[in-house]
Amino acid sequence: MRHLMSPLDFSVEELDQLLDLANDIERNPEKYAHACDGKILATLFYEPSTRTRLSFESAMMHLGGKVLGFSSANSSSAAKGESVGDTIRTVSCFADIAAIRHPKEGAPLVASMVSSIPVVNAGDGGHQHPTQTLTDLLTIRSLKGRLDNFTIGLCGDLKFGRTVHSLIEALVRYPGVRFVLISPEELRVPDYIREDVLKASGHEFEEVIRLEDAIPDLDVLYMTRVQKERFFNEEDYVRMKDFYILDKEKMGLASPDMLVLHPLPRVNEISTEVDSDPRAVYFKQVQYGRYVREALILTLLEVKVC
Ligand code: NCD
Repeated sequence: MRHLMSPLDFSVEELDQLLDLANDIERNPEKYAHACDGKILATLFYEPSTRTRLSFESAMMHLGGKVLGFSSANSSSAAKGESVGDTIRTVSCFADIAAIRHPKEGAPLVASMVSSIPVVNAGDGGHQHPTQTLTDLLTIRSLKGRLDNFTIGLCGDLKFGRTVHSLIEALVRYPGVRFVLISPEELRVPDYIREDVLKASGHEFEEVIRLEDAIPDLDVLYMTRVQKERFFNEEDYVRMKDFYILDKEKMGLASPDMLVLHPLPRVNEISTEVDSDPRAVYFKQVQYGRYVREALILTLLEVKVC
């Protein structure tokens, strides 16, 4: 039985197969419409979510399966002090696969260690968000045609942004990817990402503060929200929250082929005037998120569709 805790849980070859499967689901949805008949997905969300939870649920429904779960810690026995381990043991009696989001780093991993069903990390604190990374990889590969030899700018809250950490870990496995890390001094990537992932991989990377300076060289710009819920005080958040605002003027400095991705939710970091620009693909990215979660559910449940 396999779980998904980090994008590294799949080899590059396995990831390629998963993304191929997601593209096939996109092209031939009817082929997969009953692939998970009789199966149940549990979504255990101890933190707010719109896209991740609903796209998991939509993915299972598009495969013919059913879903159950909770969308806040308050509405589960966590409020009575139950551990994630006991919760997943219970849910293992009711469902075939579970997606868990939790504010504590490592909570989904702890759950996976005692679970008798596959567990997917749907975001653990400021640590990792592997299914967002699958979404990002599928979006880039489908729209750019490759996952190697390109320059990506990651902009915003690189310290607390778990989607950024997972995406960097995944992309250093592809040759010729160049990273431009765009953040204020206080929100730079954690040391383990800089030292153990970026430096250790030998990939070219630079850290800059001004988006205007970096944008002309980028093939992909990955914008992120300042992670309000991970700040220790409101004052620091207020000072940081509007540090970057991508608008029409800045888009004018970018290449005509640059893609703008964002895991969403957006707050102020992308002006709505950018939404109509064909390079803004963050809502397409949401759609890819559903296809790739369908592919993931099939893979972890070992369902083969011929
Ligand atoms: C992200 C997350 O939860 O980390 N959202 C998502 O799942 N698409 C990004 C964010 O909340 O900023």
